[in-house]
Amino acid sequence: MVKICCIGAGYVGGPTMAVIALKCPSVQVVVVDISVQRINAWNSDHLPIYEPGLDDVVKQCKGKNLFFSTEVEKHVSEADIVFVSVNTPTKTQGLGAGKAADLTYWESAARMIADVSKSDKIVVEKSTVPVKTAEAIEKILTHNSKGINFQILSNPEFLAEGTAIEDLFKPDRVLIGGRETPEGAKAVKALKDVYAHWVPEDRIICTNLWSAELSKLAANAFLAQRISSVNAMSALCEATGADVTQVSHAVGKDTRIGPKFLNASVGFGGSCFQKDILNLVYICDCNGLPEVANYWKQVIKVNDYQKTRFVNRIVSSMFNTVSGKKVAVLGFAFKKDTGDTRETPAIDVCKGLIGDKAKLSIYDPQVSEEQIQRDLSMKKFDWDHPTHLQPMSPTAVKALQVVWDAYEATKDAHAVAIMTEWDEFKTLDYQRIYDNMQKPAFLFDGRNIVDVEKLRKIGFIVYSIGDASFAIFNRWFWNVIRFTFLVAQVFLAALCV
Ligand code: UDX
Ligand code: UDX
Ligand code: ADP
Repeated sequence: MVKICCIGAGYVGGPTMAVIALKCPSVQVVVVDISVQRINAWNSDHLPIYEPGLDDVVKQCKGKNLFFSTEVEKHVSEADIVFVSVNTPTKTQGLGAGKAADLTYWESAARMIADVSKSDKIVVEKSTVPVKTAEAIEKILTHNSKGINFQILSNPEFLAEGTAIEDLFKPDRVLIGGRETPEGAKAVKALKDVYAHWVPEDRIICTNLWSAELSKLAANAFLAQRISSVNAMSALCEATGADVTQVSHAVGKDTRIGPKFLNASVGFGGSCFQKDILNLVYICDCNGLPEVANYWKQVIKVNDYQKTRFVNRIVSSMFNTVSGKKVAVLGFAFKKDTGDTRETPAIDVCKGLIGDKAKLSIYDPQVSEEQIQRDLSMKKFDWDHPTHLQPMSPTAVKALQVVWDAYEATKDAHAVAIMTEWDEFKTLDYQRIYDNMQKPAFLFDGRNIVDVEKLRKIGFIVYSIGDASFAIFNRWFWNVIRFTFLVAQVFLAALCV
C-alpha cells in the first residue's frame, strides 16, 4: 500500500487529500498539522472549512484510508510520498517585505522531513511557492539526508475555493514538475500513477520543476489580470454611459478571449491572487526585469483602486458623509460558498467606511463574528502570520455589529453594501428590507447580483459596478438639489428686497 502524508491540513491540503483517498482506496492518506485545533475539527463532524461536497467525501473515507493527526514526525517518517501544503505568507519584515514569500513554514517542514526520514521519499510541493523553491528545499534535504534519496516534485494545486471538490474531481489539468533525470522521471511516474486513478492521462502534464512552479504563479496572475482588466473597464463604463455587463458579454464571446473571469466586482480577494502576483513582481525585480514587474504590479493597483472607488462611491452618494449612519454589509467572505475571508475586499471596504465613521452591521452566512473582528483588526499581510494579531481599537469595536440575518443587518440602515455574491442575497425580500430602512434607501451592489430595475421600482437608489445609469441618476439627483437650493436662494433674496 502506497503511503501518503500531507503536511498542512488547510484549504488546499484537506480537500486535496480527501479526494485522493476517495479515488485511490489502495492508498493510505494521513494529513498532519501542528494545529491541534484544526486536526480536532477534521476529526469531528464540524470540519474546519466550509466547502460544498467536502463533508460527504470525508465521511466516506475517514477512518478507512484517510486520517488526520498531529503526530507529524511519525507519519512523515512512514510515508512514501510527502506533500507539503503549509502556508507561504507574504513577508511582513526584512528583505522583500510586502512582496516576497515567507518560506519559514516551508523550511521548517523540510528540515523536519530530513530529520525524521529513515527511507527514500518523494517530497511534493503543493503550496504555491516562488520559482526555484524546489532547489532550496532540495539543498536542505540532501545536505541533511544521512544517505536517504529525496526526489522533489512540484505539483501545484489549481482548485478554487467554493468549487474545490468539483475542481478536484474533474481538473482541467494536473501539473507535475520534476527533475529531468531517471530518478526524477521515476518519481514523476509514481505521482502520475496516483492521479491516473481518476484523471485522464491527457490531462496530466509533466514539465521540469521550474516550469511547474512558474505556471502556478502565471495562471493566478493571468486570472487576476482578467478581473482587473474588466474592473478597469467598469470605471470607464460608468464615465461614458456603457454597461460593463454588456461589454464583458460581448468581449467574452470572442473564442480567443472566452467568457470566464470577466465579472466586474468590487475587487478580487482570496489567499492566492495578490500573494502570488506580489511574489511574481519580486522575482521579476530580483532578476533585473523592472518593466515586467511593473506590468504585473498594475493588476494589484487596479484592484486596490476598485475597492477605494467603491468606498468613495458610497460616501459621495450619501451626501459626502456616512458619519453615524448605519451601513448593512451583506457578505464578508472573499467569494460565495466559502467561509474564507483571506484578502476579502470586504476588509478594505469595511475599514474605509469605519474610517469615515460609519456604523456597520455585517452579515455573512459562513463567517463568524470572531473572524470578522480578527480580520478588521489586522494589518495588511498579517492574516497568514498568526503571531501578528492586533487587538481591535475600541472605536472600531463600537462601530461594528455582526448579526446572523440579512433582515436584522438592514433594519434601520441608511445603506446596504453587497460584498459577496451569496445566492441567498439574490432572493431576499427587498420590499421588506426597503420598508425597514431609513430613506432615501441606498443599495451598493459590489457583485452585480441584484435586479437593478426591480429594486429601483421599489424605491431604492441602486449603484452597481460599471453601470452608468447610477452616475446619470446621481448627476440628475444633485442637479435637482442644486436647482432647488438656487430657487430657494432667489426666493429668499426676493423676500428680503
Ligand atoms: C486584430 C484582432 O485579432 C481582430 O479581431 C481585430 O478586428 C483587428 O485586430 P489582426 O491585427 O489582423 O487582428 O491580427 P491578429 O491575429 O490579432 O494579430 C495581431 C498581432 O499580434 C500580430 O502581429 C500577431 O503576430 C501578434 N500575435 C498574435 C502574437 O504575437 N501572439 C499571439 O498569440 C497572437
Ligand atoms: C484562485 C484560482 O482560481 C485557483 O485556480 C487557484 O488554485 C487559487 O486561486 P480562488 O482564489 O479560490 O482560486 O477563487 P477564484 O474563483 O479564482 O476567485 C478569486 C477572486 O476573484 C474572488 O474574490 C472572486 O470573487 C473574484 N472574481 C472572480 C471576480 O471578481 N470576478 C470574476 O469574474 C471571477
Ligand atoms: P492553504 O490555503 O495553502 O491550504 P492554510 O493556511 O489553510 O493554507 O493551511 C496551511 C496549514 O499548514 C495550517 O493549518 C498550518 O497550521 C499548517 N502548518 C504550517 N507549518 C506547519 C508545519 N511545519 N508542520 C505541520 N503543519 C504546518
